[in-house]
Amino acid sequence: MLSALDQLIVGFDQGLRTLSGTLRPGRALPGDSLPDPDMSDAERLHAAGLMRVNHSGEVCAQALYQGQALASGNADLKAALAGAAREEEDHLAWTEQRIRELGGRTSLLAPVWYAGSLAIGFAAGKLGDDWNLGFLKETERQVEAHLQGHLDRLPESDVRTRAIVEQMKDDEAGHADMAGQLGARELPLPVKLVMKLTAKVMTTVAYRV
Ligand SMILES: [Fe+2]
Ligand SMILES: [Fe+2]
Repeated sequence: MLSALDQLIVGFDQGLRTLSGTLRPGRALPGDSLPDPDMSDAERLHAAGLMRVNHSGEVCAQALYQGQALASGNADLKAALAGAAREEEDHLAWTEQRIRELGGRTSLLAPVWYAGSLAIGFAAGKLGDDWNLGFLKETERQVEAHLQGHLDRLPESDVRTRAIVEQMKDDEAGHADMAGQLGARELPLPVKLVMKLTAKVMTTVAYRV
């Protein structure tokens, strides 16, 4: 069992690695054998913008999971969070790789997304395991719906980006199911709406900056 100080050091290290883009994916890039299609400059810019949003979302996911794990005293819950967070590391690395392939860059505001999400995750974790899991489940469900929205908006021909987003969507659905099985509480509707609104601000800004 790690002491609080150990956890802080591990968390700080993880934060640095998240923001510096040095996390290595545990799984191969989905669709890695697929060709990079011919797309117009506008299409590539659009796809890179959407993937910058998704990369920012994954920076948030890292911070939320860390904040939630730091705040919880439940070892089983911490282990479950760590397992899902490893899949989020893959998402982080995959989105970053695809942004580079598309000739784009990650969000300049990544440290802001990280710090804000860490605070939100920690606050959720302090509300107790059932609310903590409820927040996690709702976040994952909203991300799943958001990724479906991206599949609707991405160029049909961009099979490489689409393969990554499809796999991420599947993983997020798995995280939501996990949270449900562990005893997630259903969040009140106003809380869900505030979460949606907060995410909307982040996704709108990250598409551009
Ligand atoms: Fe993710
Ligand atoms: Fe997730």
